[in-house]
Amino acid sequence: MSDRICPWWLGYFLASPLRKLFGNPEKILSPHVREGMTLLDVGPGMGYFTLPLAKIAGPSGRVIAVDLQEKMLIGLQRRAKRAGFSERIECRLASGKSLNLADLAGRINFALAFYMVHEVPDPDRLLSEIAAALAPGGRLLIVEPSGHVSPEKFEKTIKLARKAGLSTVNDVPLGSKLSALLEKGG
Ligand SMILES: C[S@@+](CC[C@H](N)C(=O)[O-])C[C@H]1O[C@@H](n2cnc3c(N)ncnc32)[C@H](O)[C@@H]1O
Repeated sequence: MSDRICPWWLGYFLASPLRKLFGNPEKILSPHVREGMTLLDVGPGMGYFTLPLAKIAGPSGRVIAVDLQEKMLIGLQRRAKRAGFSERIECRLASGKSLNLADLAGRINFALAFYMVHEVPDPDRLLSEIAAALAPGGRLLIVEPSGHVSPEKFEKTIKLARKAGLSTVNDVPLGSKLSALLEKGG
């Protein structure tokens, strides 16, 4: 595993409820997610955002969580079971070369890539795969950590998202300069 990838044991810290002190996940997600939506959490770790996505999407919604590390997905599945959301969350293993989303082309209403794009060696490919999975009018929220990513690097990521066919709807949706909300044209 490349040293740019978050080690699996950090997944426990990232999923800690103490993180809510720095931002409530339901508050962050609720402007973008509605009941019954099909959602994608890319690089979910142990599911800090996946569980709130499943909660907001409700029993008729579905969340696909795609991570490169099996141990992250095992932790996520354990947490989903405890929360009673196993039926709404599908975990998928990414290969490093692909997110394995071909069957979801044009079906995702909202995708999240929180603190993960900087870990990916080929963000161009990643963003093209996410864009292909989005439904017309579907949205992608990208958030990057300021400790690891410069504003210039973030701007390059957003340029790649535009190249993949997404347009920016709001430059700083969380009041953080390293966040962007993008939309696929109808
Ligand atoms: C820093 S963690 C963030 C986890 C979660 N989004 C959060 O905010 O708590 C980054 C996650 O992205 C995953 N990841 C890194 N590269 C990936 C790739 N190419 N495809 C899928 N997941 C990837 C890592 O395994 C890790 O779980």
